[in-house]
Amino acid sequence: MKLPQNISAAVQQLYDTYPFPPEPLLDSPPPGYNWRWNWLSAYNFCTGQAPQKQNIRILDAGCGTGVGTEYLVHLNPTASVVGIDLSAAALSVAQERCHRSGASDRVEFHHLSLYDCSQLSGEFDLINCVGVLHHLPDPIRGIQSLAAKLAPGGLMHIFVYGELGRWEIQLMQQAIALLQGDKRGDYRDGVQLGRQLFATLPENNRLVRRERERWSLENQRDECFADMYVHPQEIDYNTDTLFELIDASGLDFLGFSNPNYWQLERLLCKSPALMERATELSDRARYRLIELLDPEVTHYEFFLGRSPLPKADWSSEKVLLSAIPQLSPCLHGWPSQQLFNYDYQLVNLSAAEFEFLQACDANSTEQRTVAEILTDGKLNPEEVRFLQKQQLILLTPN
Ligand SMILES: C[S@@+](CC[C@H](N)C(=O)[O-])C[C@H]1O[C@@H](n2cnc3c(N)ncnc32)[C@H](O)[C@@H]1O
Repeated sequence: MKLPQNISAAVQQLYDTYPFPPEPLLDSPPPGYNWRWNWLSAYNFCTGQAPQKQNIRILDAGCGTGVGTEYLVHLNPTASVVGIDLSAAALSVAQERCHRSGASDRVEFHHLSLYDCSQLSGEFDLINCVGVLHHLPDPIRGIQSLAAKLAPGGLMHIFVYGELGRWEIQLMQQAIALLQGDKRGDYRDGVQLGRQLFATLPENNRLVRRERERWSLENQRDECFADMYVHPQEIDYNTDTLFELIDASGLDFLGFSNPNYWQLERLLCKSPALMERATELSDRARYRLIELLDPEVTHYEFFLGRSPLPKADWSSEKVLLSAIPQLSPCLHGWPSQQLFNYDYQLVNLSAAEFEFLQACDANSTEQRTVAEILTDGKLNPEEVRFLQKQQLILLTPN
């Protein structure tokens, strides 16, 4: 079997054979949260404040079997969501998934390429595009089509592959393609051949080791193995080529959504002299330095935005005290003094912090200001700023 001439047709055929992701369908809302799919949390992360608008429109571009789409519906109770994908098989699973968990009244699906998203009516406040652009023959055309549908003040969340941490995957993809020869494009054959290769290579072989240590758990499922090793189209990025893609979108880069990786301190903190040398670097050069020194990076995830977007500054006490606080919607274990924050990091609250958060929790109806809540004097403004920085609370300027 030969690959179809048209790359998009080959990609569609892969996902019609192996709809992705293969997560089971549940009869209830999906567990927990991913803060990147929660409009309030994502907006707060990007701008430092809560959004004005709640009744937003969300586009999940390349939604696959709808795992992310289902979260987008459940985590944003006043949003309407549109999912699009090339694969009819993936879309029918997505539809069934949302129906089963009671999410179907605020979501619609369309069998549509990213390239053609201009056919959708209106604009979107949040566009989520995870694991898709790197499978397009022309990712720049793809991101530009999406950018044209992003409303002013809107956010786009993107995830694309990184070349440094996927080096062994690329080698195995090429090896499987060579051995498949004319059978390339027969994805079931590719999976079988790939599994046979891994089982045959010496145990300490570099590709085998990387598969065993990093990927084998998820690759137990053929859908994941196929997505990784027998894909007909994949473009992997480094920070240089990533920013070419980002610049071509015409949108503003608002930050990586896995910010911890992008801290140079975690690599060079033992040498203030080296840290000092790096202070001259531009942001982009610093990102490049980080990935060169820690080439584990398997993907890039980040937010882009279309102006006008605010950038909150809570340093003035007057501005801070007059703001309206609310509890972050992404907390696990609330109400308790010990809980997990938006990023599932454990947080221990003092009694005074806990009380303040309780007041914020009750604030959706009361709309009290920070100053009005602080009247008991148990917490000071600096401590409120710290709660805001940790994203335990969201602030709305008043
Ligand atoms: C790796 S899956 C990601 C699915 C989903 N976004 C997720 O993260 O769970 C890639 C999806 O992108 C879809 N896709 C690829 N090219 C596309 C295009 N040009 N337009 C729309 N969807 C596309 C595929 O059909 C597939 O379902």
